Amino acid sequence: MKDYLLDLIIKTLANTSNPKSVHGIYPYRGKISSIDAKQIISQLNPDKIILDPFCGSGTILYEAANRGMKSFGIDLNPIAQIISEGKININPDLQFEHLSVVNIINKASKLKKVKLMPENARKHFHKDTANQIMRMLEFKKIFTPYGLACFYGSICLAARGCNHYKWTSSTVGKNIEPKRDINFYDKILGKIKKHFYPLPKKNKAKFFHMDTRKISKNIDVESIDYIFTSPPYFDCLDYTAYYGKIILNILEIKREPIRSSLIQNFSSYEKSMKHVLDELYKVMKDKGKIIFVVGDKKIHGKIINGAEFFNDISPFKNVKTIERKYTGSSSQIFDNINKTSRKEQIIVWEKK
Ligand SMILES: C[S@@+](CC[C@H](N)C(=O)[O-])C[C@H]1O[C@@H](n2cnc3c(N)ncnc32)[C@H](O)[C@@H]1O
Repeated sequence: MKDYLLDLIIKTLANTSNPKSVHGIYPYRGKISSIDAKQIISQLNPDKIILDPFCGSGTILYEAANRGMKSFGIDLNPIAQIISEGKININPDLQFEHLSVVNIINKASKLKKVKLMPENARKHFHKDTANQIMRMLEFKKIFTPYGLACFYGSICLAARGCNHYKWTSSTVGKNIEPKRDINFYDKILGKIKKHFYPLPKKNKAKFFHMDTRKISKNIDVESIDYIFTSPPYFDCLDYTAYYGKIILNILEIKREPIRSSLIQNFSSYEKSMKHVLDELYKVMKDKGKIIFVVGDKKIHGKIINGAEFFNDISPFKNVKTIERKYTGSSSQIFDNINKTSRKEQIIVWEKK
């Protein structure tokens, strides 16, 4: 099959989110547009092996497997693990997924004693909604992977709902009183139906919960045909903040150890990414293609071009860079507010 990648076409998109797809399960911070992911994957040879070394909520991991590719995803964030595993392990029987949650709701609603939601999370919810969440949490271990991803996603949706759906991507966590009572059981059952898009074939996608800086310890050297990823942003987004903070607070998991294990410290960013690129070089086959979706960063009033930054530290040969404006995303809103006009770049490298 012809490798179309060198003719890569990237359209400017009016809207990058699609809440009705499987990717609407959870509002993961920094999620790549599934339309972009699909468009790029459709130009790759489906018989080859693809890796997303920073897969987050598994958009690329899922879309590549959906096209029939053998697909690997890596992320160190425990929330990324739950959401990715949930998307790639949907039981093909909707009735099964639905009944497994109904079963948990039945058990949960009969509990005599329920733990109070931790204070730092409780403030976002109506008391009855918080109570239903805590009841279901008691049965966390018996959720299916898809059910658990829907549980986390429903917590986010319920938090927004309790605050009258007024939260936007830049106001998550804003306190709006009085809280609205959201029936959590209805929300999760709705979610199970809404995002039910099981992969056509099992075992095409595999997730690894690990640090990408150690990738050659788990992935065979010279075994990968394509790498396609949106790496952690170099304006150092906190992937444990945003809705993730609410989930981690409910689970009583400390954020700081997770935060400091991820690449999101500006002073060490360049060193870490150089390390990652050298590791990726080891696992790539000769002539393999690497696609990085990056963006500009503004520091001290000066714009650093994302593609130039990455080309400087990459051991791969640059074959193409496509640049476009941010459209239909929170980055565009950020640009409008801050009067910046950053651009997004799609870099294509080759291992020679
Ligand atoms: C831009 S996000 C990827 C989003 C993803 N494309 C999606 O659609 O959800 C970057 C990801 O890199 C992950 N990350 C940061 N440092 C990491 C590391 N050292 N090892 C593995 N993953 C890491 C973060 O947890 C985050 O999920």
